[in-house]
Amino acid sequence: MKTVKDYIRTIPDFPHEGIMFRDVTTLFGDPRGFRLAVDQLLHPYVGRRIDKVAGLEARGFILGGAIAHQLSIGFVPIRKQGKLPGNTISQGYKLEYGEAVMEVHEDAIEAGESVLLVDDLLATGGTAEAGLKLIEKLGGNVVGTAFIIDLPELGGRKRLEDLGMDVHALCA
Ligand code: PRP
Ligand code: ADE
Repeated sequence: MKTVKDYIRTIPDFPHEGIMFRDVTTLFGDPRGFRLAVDQLLHPYVGRRIDKVAGLEARGFILGGAIAHQLSIGFVPIRKQGKLPGNTISQGYKLEYGEAVMEVHEDAIEAGESVLLVDDLLATGGTAEAGLKLIEKLGGNVVGTAFIIDLPELGGRKRLEDLGMDVHALCA
């Protein structure tokens, strides 16, 4: 039986020298792998109240969309700056390799809604923390976070757990 990790490949020196890039396109491209990942990401949250799934650009859209469909709830895209057409709120953050700004539509989440935050990979946790702050600025309650890959040596899990977040990851 293959595990989720078996479907992921690592590409050295992408997008910069020294980065070991975890490529999940091979997981997404395999029907068994994709279903296994979506089912396992959801597993700890089954039976909990979740009103919306928020996905972080770009691969969090693919996973978050599938999870939202499975739960029959709405999906909220958290996007890189300048991509969303309506009124947005913004949050800057640092990456393993650079800096960026994330945005969400200001009417995407209502105060008091329970939101599951999803992405493919947790590295420094900067992206996820930006997503978390955006959801909380709108009055949403993040019930937990779900990632396929956690790179614990980059500190993201500790960073999110120190903020009181539940962190669920499928492999390292
Ligand atoms: C990757 C990954 C996460 C983020 C994790 O996205 O998909 O969103 O990095 O890094 P962090 O925990 O250090 O913040 P990337 O920034 O490469 O953007 P992309 O999905 O648009 O390619
Ligand atoms: N985002 C940040 N670090 C990454 C890595 N090593 N592989 C894929 N995405 C990443």
